[in-house]
Amino acid sequence: MAIEWNDSLFLSHDLLDDDHREMAALINKLYLCVNENFGKDSVAAAARQLLRFSLAHFSHEKGLMGQYNYPDMAAHLSEHKTLVDELQGLIAIVESEGGPVRFETVDFLDDWFAAHLKDADARFAAFLAKEARETATGDRAG
Ligand SMILES: [Fe+2]
Ligand SMILES: [Fe+2]
Repeated sequence: MAIEWNDSLFLSHDLLDDDHREMAALINKLYLCVNENFGKDSVAAAARQLLRFSLAHFSHEKGLMGQYNYPDMAAHLSEHKTLVDELQGLIAIVESEGGPVRFETVDFLDDWFAAHLKDADARFAAFLAKEARETATGDRAG
């Protein structure tokens, strides 16, 4: 299923929200290419575009985690790796074997995105908001 963006997906962090909206759009683009049988080249191009953007987004999150010593960093980054592995697998299937890409694979991306955003990313955004509040009030617990 395509991702329907709605307000519940906003995490009140501009950089993360902008990235997530773009990522959702790229997942939907890939979904459309598979769903409408646009062919191997279109599917591969859409998957590569999604992979490139996902890597950039994950490095934004990793940078912020390092900057603020996020305690759940390792577990969070391993969720990112799951998506990267899945996408690389999909690209390999399309490019070396010519497909076909199963709908289950695209569903996996879309399920991963919703679950990761609502759980791991939501917790990370809450952590960043708390850090920002504590920095603003000078009330850091150390
Ligand atoms: Fe994210
Ligand atoms: Fe994340």
